[in-house]
Amino acid sequence: MGSSKTLFFFALMAFTAMAVTPAFAETNEEDPGLVMNFYKETCPQAEDIIREQVKLLYKRHKNTAFSWLRNIFHDCAVESCDASLLLDSTRRELSEKETDRSFGMRNFRYIEDIKEAVERECPGVVSCADILVLSAREGIVSLGGPYIPLKTGRRDGRKSRAEVLEQYLPDHNESMSVVLDRFASIGIDTPGVVALLGAHSVGRTHCVKLVQRLYPEVDPALNPDHVEHMLKKCPDPIPDPKAVQYVRNDRGTPMKLDNNYYRNILDNKGLMMVDHQLAIDKRTKAYVKKMANSEDYWAKEFSRAITILSENNPLTGTKGEIRRQCNMANKYHYKD
Ligand code: HEM
Ligand SMILES: *[C@@H]1O[C@H](CO)[C@@H](O)[C@H](O)[C@H]1NC(C)=O
Repeated sequence: MGSSKTLFFFALMAFTAMAVTPAFAETNEEDPGLVMNFYKETCPQAEDIIREQVKLLYKRHKNTAFSWLRNIFHDCAVESCDASLLLDSTRRELSEKETDRSFGMRNFRYIEDIKEAVERECPGVVSCADILVLSAREGIVSLGGPYIPLKTGRRDGRKSRAEVLEQYLPDHNESMSVVLDRFASIGIDTPGVVALLGAHSVGRTHCVKLVQRLYPEVDPALNPDHVEHMLKKCPDPIPDPKAVQYVRNDRGTPMKLDNNYYRNILDNKGLMMVDHQLAIDKRTKAYVKKMANSEDYWAKEFSRAITILSENNPLTGTKGEIRRQCNMANKYHYKD
């Protein structure tokens, strides 16, 4: 090696060491936190298996993708992305799934199919929390939404967060101030909230959440063309809780996660009060218009907000556990 080359080599080494040291100092060997491709060494096929399973399930039941998308909100927005949403009730604890805010959530049994497929390949390695987040990512793709690179390394919580859930998840008729505050507290700003609610571009809303806007009087803010359809779908002021009566969130493109939602709400066809408020509130209206006009702008903001949501206060390192089955904490496995 010539002397100038040697000098350059040492200079490069010194520079590299300087650039890298602070990063090493901050991360701890045991707990790297969330990282891209966390299972690279321990279960390299994990993300592919999850992708394949989500695709297979989507072929059989299109609405599974709606559930994966809704799950990421209901799990991650409630204190932590720790798959607490997936736990069944126990003798002591009510499950999050059985609370009123979780009304209409479905397909939980199919997440066990994904978990089982991953367990067959790498038993005891991949958390339900990561499966929940990655299935949401793949569900978004199935529905025609953007592909969002997401970190992994979450671990599973051991208990239900049902008793605090209402402090985090807004109700269908919540004021925009409350909605914006709740999301701001987990680092999601106003355009992020507007983009996330675009999830209501797919799926359904049951009549119980809508009758307030139809009976005893029809909400004058609703588009009359839409009222006719809503009344047909929800003919009773007090819907029979056993009857499955609902209205599709987006009649135009019900199976596509796209920006049609924003055109609907600007046209006063938003189903829930929160959807309608988004289009008229002075803090959110400009973003609604921008997203109605630009699918790319919506997709960019949606991806950013989903990323923040997915990184909300995870359990990492040695905290929590890797559940064997997503619907119960490991201590409830009697078979050991
Ligand atoms: C202010 C915030 C929100 C409120 C009050 C809210 C409320 C609701 C309600 C009441 C339903 C109807 C459930 C039913 O009757 O079956 C629903 C459906 C849905 N929500 Fe939200 N939501 C909010 C934000 C979000 C976010 C941030 C996401 C995802 C990123 C999301 C995804 C979904 C999906 C995909 C459905 C359709 C589910 C299905 O058809 O199975 N929501 N939401
Ligand atoms: C919101 O709707 C629920 C029923 O789902 C109702 O009990 C509650 O009073 C409503 N809240 C407001 C502020 O209108």
